[in-house]
Amino acid sequence: MKKLLITSMLLFSPLSTVAEEAIGIPAKGGQPEYLFMEKVTRDAAPATAKIISDALALGRLVIFAQMSKIGDPKLGDKGFTGDVFAEQWQAALEAQLIGISPEQEALLKKLIWAGKLSMDINQDRINTQGVKYKHFLPAKWARETGLFFNAKTGVVTKQPSVNYRHPSNVPDATEKKVLSAFVKAGNTAEATGEYTKMGKQAVYRYFEPVKLMTPCLACHGKPKGELDMLGYEKDGMDAGDVVGMISVAIAVKQ
Ligand code: HEC
Repeated sequence: MKKLLITSMLLFSPLSTVAEEAIGIPAKGGQPEYLFMEKVTRDAAPATAKIISDALALGRLVIFAQMSKIGDPKLGDKGFTGDVFAEQWQAALEAQLIGISPEQEALLKKLIWAGKLSMDINQDRINTQGVKYKHFLPAKWARETGLFFNAKTGVVTKQPSVNYRHPSNVPDATEKKVLSAFVKAGNTAEATGEYTKMGKQAVYRYFEPVKLMTPCLACHGKPKGELDMLGYEKDGMDAGDVVGMISVAIAVKQ
């Protein structure tokens, strides 16, 4: 009897409710990134961050151009290897190389390494036959590329969005503020940036709006709330609307 009483007290004690509420919430304080291996001068930071952001946007476009092939369930091997991708991406990046410093070029090479790695490790997924949707799309490539690039350099890249699908794209306070200004500006939204700090590190943060094109609307378009082909609720947006942004944080030498 006594045992039963203790068990029921444990089961219904308010403590167990508190414990549940305390599970799965973000730890307070800290910084998601605290070791920035690559640092640039204060003067070079805005242009360097823009080079990284533009390169990610171009890489996204190179993958975007292959989406119907990647989504063809009849095809097995797509021939869209890391090498093939890297070659197309580098061709698209050629204009960016004009006038950049050796330090910026070295950093861009590391981004290209990360982007190629992301393609290499997704080959089995991309080449799966009999499946239309393989969960490989530009945003996923950019997310994984950002992860490898961050591991190698400490530079932080993200794609925060109005209605983000991947949890790693949750906007922080600054990104939320910038994103809401982008959304208000709509089609006329332009890139912006600021010098600030991440923990003790001086950084330059750069934000580039990502606008929707017509083919994006299959998932991010209308009607709002209707399920897209992946089961996510559509965002209810139109072509030209700002869906999110590319966010880059680069360490500044002190
Ligand atoms: C097939 C449905 C689909 C289409 C079409 C699509 N997206 Fe997405 N989008 C997704 C999914 C799923 C994710 C999450 C990918 C991940 O990180 O794994 C995503 C992520 C994003 C993100 C990052 C924020 C987030 O939600 O995690 C941006 C920005 C984005 N998409 C923009 C676009 C743009 C621009 C286009 C058109 C060029 C586009 N999307 C086309 C499904 C789609």
